[in-house]
Amino acid sequence: MQFKRIGVLTSGGDAPGMNAAIRSVVRTAIGRGVEEVYGIYSGYKGLIEEDMELLNIRSVSNIISHGGTMLYSARCPEFKTEEGMQKAVDVCKKRGIDGIIAIGGDGTFRGATDLTRRGIPCIGIPATIDNDISSTDYTIGFDTAMNTVVELVDKLRDTCESHARCNVVEVMGKYAGDIALHTGIATGAISIAVRELPYDEDQAIAKIIKARENKKRNFIVIVAEGKENFAEAYAKRIEEKTGIETRFSRLAHVQRGGNPTVRDRVTASLMGKAAVMELLDGKSNLVICERKGVITSMDINKALKIDRMFKDLMTPEEYAELEAEGSLVDMRRHCEERAAAKLNLYRISQEICK
Ligand code: F6P
Repeated sequence: MQFKRIGVLTSGGDAPGMNAAIRSVVRTAIGRGVEEVYGIYSGYKGLIEEDMELLNIRSVSNIISHGGTMLYSARCPEFKTEEGMQKAVDVCKKRGIDGIIAIGGDGTFRGATDLTRRGIPCIGIPATIDNDISSTDYTIGFDTAMNTVVELVDKLRDTCESHARCNVVEVMGKYAGDIALHTGIATGAISIAVRELPYDEDQAIAKIIKARENKKRNFIVIVAEGKENFAEAYAKRIEEKTGIETRFSRLAHVQRGGNPTVRDRVTASLMGKAAVMELLDGKSNLVICERKGVITSMDINKALKIDRMFKDLMTPEEYAELEAEGSLVDMRRHCEERAAAKLNLYRISQEICK
């Protein structure tokens, strides 16, 4: 199929590097003979409302270094309805949009697969600071967010050292503790707590007491927000049980902004190009992934299933279906490898952060 016109959108939580991905999509597509590229504003909401504008090589100049997304982002409940979906398809037909590159997280990919099923081929690019898309080892924005956390926690450590205090820092990551695990190691946190791994609070507190006896003055504890209603109360318990003055800090949305790092700019550029190439090659319903350092792709439905499996959200019926189609073993292996990598990081942090 000859792709004359394609669309690009960003949806869900924004992530630094989304702009670099948009730039790469636009420039690759135009360079490869696509006549027009629509930038669709505010994700699927803009698609339904026909809020879009043609982009060209120059209109994506000077965005590679910017955080946020020049196409804006939104969550769109209407898109999940049959009526909303039909509106989106009608807009694509009216504007002659032959395919869409959708940049975002799992919600974005669910939208992309729904559109593909209705005849608009879509390719997804994973972008979320949480790194919680299980089909890919890396999501755009993760590195920048981690560097932001490290910069802030380093500052907290300075003041903790002066006052001989503890600071419990809550970082983002609703379903995945990746930001917490990596930044915990990078900041020398005495303890890291994430939703998906067991946490022994008594042992952690004993470790803090022992370190204090051993003349340690500053104590950083990193908690992923997925461990709900935990961090703030935990700070109080640490103070009560150790006698060490303890503060609580929630870093929140500051982690989502800022100029993307080299890692995010380069990965976004590579993924943007890969997405366009797949589309022009006649492929659809794929998510671009990075696996073991290589840019590759996976069927979106499979990627969504792996994600549900990894997050322990699959029903027994879904397991039976996967077994019947012969993909269960492969998907299990994928999830086990990912879980093992996390556990390894966690163990290392426990061993060396004292
Ligand atoms: O982008 C993912 C994420 O950062 C989560 O870690 C967090 O829970 C969520 O976004 C918050 O998003 P918002 O406040 O934009 O709904």
